Formats: sequence, structure tokens, C-alpha cells
Amino acid sequence: MRYLMRLPNHPAGPIYLLIPFLSLFGWSVPSARAADAPLPPRNLRCEYLPNPLGIDVRQPRFSWVLEHTARGEKQSAYQILVATRVETLDLDKGDPWDSGKIASDQSTQVVYAGKPLESGRTYFWKVRTWGAQGKGSAYSRAAQFEMGLLTPHDWKAQWIAGGNQLRKEFSLASKVTRARAYVTALGYYELRLNGEKVGSSVLDPAWTTYEKRILYSTYDVTGLLRQGPNAVGAMLGNGWAAMAWNWENPAVLTYKSPALYLQIDIELEDGRQVGIQSDLSWKAARGPIVSDSIYNGEIYNATAETPRWDLAGFNDSSWKPAEPAQMPGGALSAQMMPPIRVVDTITPVLVSNPKPGVYVYDMGQNFSGWAQLRVKGPRGTAVTLRFSEVVYDHGMINRENIGAAKARDVYILRGDGELEVYEPHFTYHGFRYVEMTGFPGTPGLDSLRGRVVRSSVESTGSFSASKPILNQIQRIIHWGQLSNLHSIPTDCDQRNERMGWLGDAHVTAEEAMLNFDMAAFYTNFVRDMRDVQGADGTLPDTVPHRYGSRPADPAWGTAYPLLCWYMYEQYGDRRILEENYEGFKKYVEFLATRAPDNVLRYSYYGDWVALEYTSGELVSDAYYYYDVEILSKIAAVLGKSADAQTYAQLAGHIKEGFNRAFYDAKRGVYANGTQTANTLALFLDLVPQDQQGRVIDNLTYDIVYQHNTHTTAGFIGVKYLLPVLTRPGRSDLAGLAYDLATQTTYPSWGYMIANGATTLWEIWQNKTGPSMNSHNHPMMGSLGAWFYQALAGINVAPGGAGYEHIRIEPHIVRDLNWASGTVETLRGTVSSSWIHSPGVVTLDVTVPVNSDALVVVPKDEEATEVVAREGERVVWEKGKFVPGVAGVRGATQDKDGSITFEIGSGRYSFKLTSQ
Ligand code: BGC
Repeated sequence: MRYLMRLPNHPAGPIYLLIPFLSLFGWSVPSARAADAPLPPRNLRCEYLPNPLGIDVRQPRFSWVLEHTARGEKQSAYQILVATRVETLDLDKGDPWDSGKIASDQSTQVVYAGKPLESGRTYFWKVRTWGAQGKGSAYSRAAQFEMGLLTPHDWKAQWIAGGNQLRKEFSLASKVTRARAYVTALGYYELRLNGEKVGSSVLDPAWTTYEKRILYSTYDVTGLLRQGPNAVGAMLGNGWAAMAWNWENPAVLTYKSPALYLQIDIELEDGRQVGIQSDLSWKAARGPIVSDSIYNGEIYNATAETPRWDLAGFNDSSWKPAEPAQMPGGALSAQMMPPIRVVDTITPVLVSNPKPGVYVYDMGQNFSGWAQLRVKGPRGTAVTLRFSEVVYDHGMINRENIGAAKARDVYILRGDGELEVYEPHFTYHGFRYVEMTGFPGTPGLDSLRGRVVRSSVESTGSFSASKPILNQIQRIIHWGQLSNLHSIPTDCDQRNERMGWLGDAHVTAEEAMLNFDMAAFYTNFVRDMRDVQGADGTLPDTVPHRYGSRPADPAWGTAYPLLCWYMYEQYGDRRILEENYEGFKKYVEFLATRAPDNVLRYSYYGDWVALEYTSGELVSDAYYYYDVEILSKIAAVLGKSADAQTYAQLAGHIKEGFNRAFYDAKRGVYANGTQTANTLALFLDLVPQDQQGRVIDNLTYDIVYQHNTHTTAGFIGVKYLLPVLTRPGRSDLAGLAYDLATQTTYPSWGYMIANGATTLWEIWQNKTGPSMNSHNHPMMGSLGAWFYQALAGINVAPGGAGYEHIRIEPHIVRDLNWASGTVETLRGTVSSSWIHSPGVVTLDVTVPVNSDALVVVPKDEEATEVVAREGERVVWEKGKFVPGVAGVRGATQDKDGSITFEIGSGRYSFKLTSQ
């Protein structure tokens, strides 16, 4: 026998020693017993981020993923060490915090409880855990986090402007041991140190309500500085701050010009500390960027470049002194989410030449970003790139649907005989096609590349199934969602809009959270919402830009409580509920003032882009109920039982009012009987018990007989339509939901695909006219959540926030032979994959350590008396649970013959066959 022994805390990383035949000598060695101990925790996160730099949460939250070789494992205790030096941590000591052994099963959202964390300081941490049997793991590898600048006194910089290029030189007397740059701008910045771009973010900082909150980023610039002369430079773009609005108010310029705010804190080898800040000692000039606008694109004149401007020794005598800039007034706050980056490069699939001198590139995919131009030619030649989502039959680009956005970049060649590679700095476009004019000579496929630009959230979910159309839809949801993450969730990415419409944000949120790591991104967006909430509790329709002055349509404003509730369900985030509780109350209290008879009637958009009109009043009132019901649940989670009761009561009154106002008892439908009206009532359990059958029958009749198995819902109704048809206990309707999901004729997702969509459309119709038809609008992609929840069957069980308790309940429908979903949750991997063949259903599931699950294994229709196995062992037979298999704690059979197993953590493979 040979044993592998792991030495996890070795500085070189874990080391595995081969220990041969030790048992011969009677030594105590890791054996089958030792396998009972948990493995070291992995995937350490602080405030949802791996090793974040510059956070300003004073009591950050930690999470880790547990690993264990045995099934049914839980954490019984943990110990966290936080140290200011990695050497201290290596000695298993924590100076600001040694939690000691804490008896707790909490492995996510664990709040720091040590000495106050200091501004600008780096901390190292690790954690070990104990399993259900009390055996301890080794410590995890060290992770780290670093505090940003926590108080106003830490900031020494000044807001400066005066040009879109700013620079300063400084000299350092000895070697640099540590240096951090804290930087933000009104608009966008690109920071350069000694000729190099700092970091890989673009279009930074995130768009916020600058009068409330301005986000700075922290960079480790130790390696970019040197003893002796240094130069720091910044390019500035207008971004959202200094852009001339051409969406709502064409003439309004929010800030006169972009401005920079920067501080570099440097520690030298000789012990001295040096600070470099943006101030009036900087020099400013107008650089080669002639103009830049998010909507309109960038004009870049390479003949106006001043080479070496970002290096020490450059002669800036012709530059003017920087000017003091208007202060936006908002608090400087750490940007704690994945930044916008260039995440991918696309090679065009085709270039055509529809007219002399006009070249049209097809990227083969609609996405957000820009094009990289590669060109060689005479000095002063201007190459123009214009972007579009669609082309006319004659091959020219069609830009009727991008409104007033000019969406064009112009590059004026340097012409020094070298290949010139250009990418814009401060704009982005939503496009599939690029029209190129002015190119010197004949461009090839090589002359242009697509650069995919968006908030760099990681993919954390995957879904696939045996029916190709579902995978194609999953693909357009993926691209559609990602294209619309630009520090906020946007409605679209191409026309002169790109706003944080709250309705779009909440209908897509569950889909986004299942596909991507959205926790930090939405944490910020919730702050954005809180920033703009009025003293009267109202929210605007769009955030951070406030659209108009009226309060949000209730189906849009609901994003505030709903997104937070989803954060709680998906990530177990209780703090976001606490922090916003008063805000939710104010919001609900505002709604109540508009609903004296418990019916909320004001509405602007209703079931937006629906094919059949549903009363906007009904939609608003349904959300009023939803908000109050959620607030009552939130109060219960936070232990505010009196509030929970008050809001539950209010919800009861709203329910009565809803039925009074909208239920047509004669017909058994709500309002005019549209799919959306009945769906909302069913989804929110507003339908009186004895009427539910009628309403469901009317809903399904409308879908099947009135509309030949198509939906008529807009983006509000469609979010809940399929989930209503696959509710627990209604497996008989799942086939209909599946028919809608796989429909390929108008209107349907499949119809978009049949018509060449590579991202989701704004409307069901295939139109390219001048209004309301963006080809990259994520809102109809709410279906993506249903793929995971209904087809793969992955759900947070009631009361199981953050996947502590999981419900896996896949629907086996029609001709679908298999479906498979995986979600990387904060607690670890949750997966569900099933295969259906005549008479046999197999279901493989993964449940993370420290979680448990109810797994509903459906029965094949034909199967009669069933027997269930897990692996090779029988777990259900002759109508009874057969105990004895590790991790499988019990089972019951449902009316429809499916068997629900209660399991602990681990991987399982269930198989249901006929006796
Ligand atoms: C946006 C939508 C948004 C709507 C509000 C549109 O312009 O693109 O997605 O929700 O306005 O009705």
C-alpha cells in the first residue's frame, strides 16, 4: 500500500509525499479514517471577489468552498486567521484577527470580526474547517484582500482638467518597495506610468450618480515605478459624465469636461513615503483624440500624437498647466466589481464590397465592443468605421434602428510606413457588421478584428440539452446578457440609449445569476439604486441616469426589493437585505400612498412590448403585491416579526383588492384574459384556491387554441409564463412550457434564431425600421433561468438561501432526451444531468459539502412499479425507501410516481426503472 500525504502549507504550495509501506511499521498514517477529515477549503472570496485590491467595506465578508471525499458532509466549525504579514499567517497566527474555533456551519457571508482594518493595508487570510465528525482540515492556501482609502483624510489629490491628456514627472530617491495608485475620473480615464497602461480595465470608472458616489480603482503599481525620474500620464474621455445627452435631453451636458482624480502612495526602500497626486502642478494638452462619445464614437488623429508623452524627459513646455475641475461632490468609494475589459477578440467571417470603396465586415456575432483596425498608408488618410447590427439585402449596413447614435470611429493615419493598429479608447458600440471606408488600398479580413468589451464577470453556469434549439437559445441569451453588462445592466448596447432600465434589470437577474458570477456586480447596482432613491421612497425608471422626474413604473421600481431578494436567494446575502431594509420600507410606503383602496393603478409601460395588451393597472398592482409580500419575507429573515406580520397583512389586503379589481368570475380570467394577466395572478398565488383550475385552463386554452401554442406576452409576462407552467405539482403542463420554449414560428425565441439572431431582440417581430427594434436587448432572455430551474431542475429550496438547501426537480418532457445544468454557487458546484430513454430515467446530481438537497427523480410515463438505484445499490423498491446508501437519507413517492430523495452533499447517480 502507498499513501499520498499532503503538506499544504509549504511555501511552494501543496507538496505530495509518497509514503510507501508505512503501515508495515505500524506508523500512524493517513488512511481510510483520515479520509473522514475535510480537505482544505478552496475558492476563498472576500466580498465576493478573489483577492480584491482596494475594498472599503470595514467588516468584509468571507466565503470558502468546502471539499470532502465522503458524502453527506457538513461543516461543524471553522477558524479564520487574518494577518498583516504572510509570514505571520505561515506560522498559523492572525494578528488583527484569529477567530478561534467557531462552532458554526456558516461557510459563506462570514463577517470579519477582528481589530479595525486599516486604510490602504494588505491583509492575508486563510481558513480551516471541521467536518461533521469533528475532524479538522488543514488550512486553506493563503488569500488576500486590501483595504482602499477609508477616510477623507487619506485623500490628498485634487480634481483636475484642462485637456484630454494630462501628465506629470517626478523623481524617486530610492527603489520602490510598494506603490498603489488610487484613481478615478469624471468620464473615463486611461492611466499610464512610464509608458505603460496601468491595469487592463477600459471604460473606467463605472457609471454612477457622481453627485452621490464616485468609484475609484486601486492598482498595484510597484513594478511600474523606478528609482530616478518617472512620468505619469492620463488620457481622459467624456464617458457618461461629460457627454452631451442625445437620448433624453440632447442639449444637456452634465459636466463641462472630463476630470481626473489620482493619488499614488509610494513606499521607498529607504523607508520614506512619497505621495503623487493630481494637482495643479500637472500639465494638460489636447491629445490625438479629437472627439469621443459613447454613442457617437471616437475620432483619433494619429498625426497629432506626441510620442513619449507618458515617459520622463518629454518636453511639455508647450502644454498648459492643468486647471482645477468642478467637484462632483459624491463620496469616493471603492469599485468592487469585475471591471470592464476587452475579454475576447473575434475574427470576421466575411468581408464584402457592396460599393466601390465600401467594405462591410461581418463578425458573425452581434456583441458589444469595438473594432481593432490594422492599416498602413499615407499620413493623414482617414479610415472610417461605422457599426450596425443588420445589413440590407444589397449588402450595405442598415442603421435605422440605432437612433441618433453616430456609432462611428475615425482613424487618421500617422503614415510613418509602419503597420498602425488602432482601437478606440472611450466609446463602445453594439454591432455585428462594420462598414469601412477610406481604407488606403484593398482591406482584407485581417484588417479588422472584433474586440468584445464588457464587465468581465466570469461564467459560473452552463446549460445544455438534447434539443438543439435550446442550446441555440442559451447561446443568444449568453451573448445578449453579456453585451449588456457595462458596469450597470443596460437595456441595449447600440442605440443612443443604453440605460439601466430597472424593468429589464430585474427580469434578467435570475438568468444572469445562474449563468454568471453577478454577486459583486449587482451589489454595486443595488447601491446605484439606493443612491437615487428619493426621500419620499420613490425610484426612477432608469439608474443611474434618472429618466424624467416621475416615480418609476411599479413594474420597474420593483427591481430594488426584487434584486436584493434574488441576491439573498442565490448568494445568501443577508447584509444587502439589512442595508436596504429602510429603503424597501420607504418604497413600499410610497406605493401605499398611491393605493388608497389597496389597488395600485398608476402605470406607464405595463407588459412592455407585448403582442396583446394587458391592463397596465393590473401589472402595477401585481408588483405592488409582490413588493409587499417580499418585504414581509425580508422582515421575517431579519427577525423583524412585527413588520413581517404587518406586511403580510397588507399583502392580504392587496390580494383582495386585486381580485376585486381584476378578476372576472364569469369568465375565470383576470382583466381581459391575456396570458400575462393570468400568469401574473397565478405566479403570485393571487388566485383564490377554488378558481385556480379555471384560470389555468383559460391560460392554457389561450396559448394552445387561441394562439396555436405561442406566447403573446411582453417582457414582464414572459418572465413568469413558463415557470407558472412548470410549478411543483403541475408536471402535466410542463410539456406546454417546453412547446413554447422550443417554438420556432412567430412569435418565439426560435423565430429569432430562424431569422439569424445571434443575440436577443427587443421585440418579437423581425423588423429593422426606425424604432424599438434593437437586436441586442437581454430582457426576453429571462427564459434562461427557466432552463436551469425547470429543465435541469436546479433550485434554491424554500428557506435554503444561498443553496444551503437545494431542490433538484427536472422536468422530463416530450422529445427531450437529456438536459444538463451546472451552477458554481458560492458554496461549490451544484449540478443536475438527466437522461431519459424508454422506461428509464437516470439523474446525476452534485450537492456541495455543507448543503443538502431534495432530489425529485421523475418517472418515465410508461414505467409502472418503479425501482430506483443509486449507483449499483437499490434505494427504492416495492413502494418503499431502502436505507443503507451513504448520503441518501430518505425518500418518498409523489402522486405522479416520481421519487423524492433526501440527500446530503456529494455526487450521486440515480436511476429509475420499472420493477
Ligand atoms: C427600453 C426598454 C425599457 C423601456 C421602458 C425602452 O426604451 O429599451 O427595454 O424597459 O424603454 O418602457
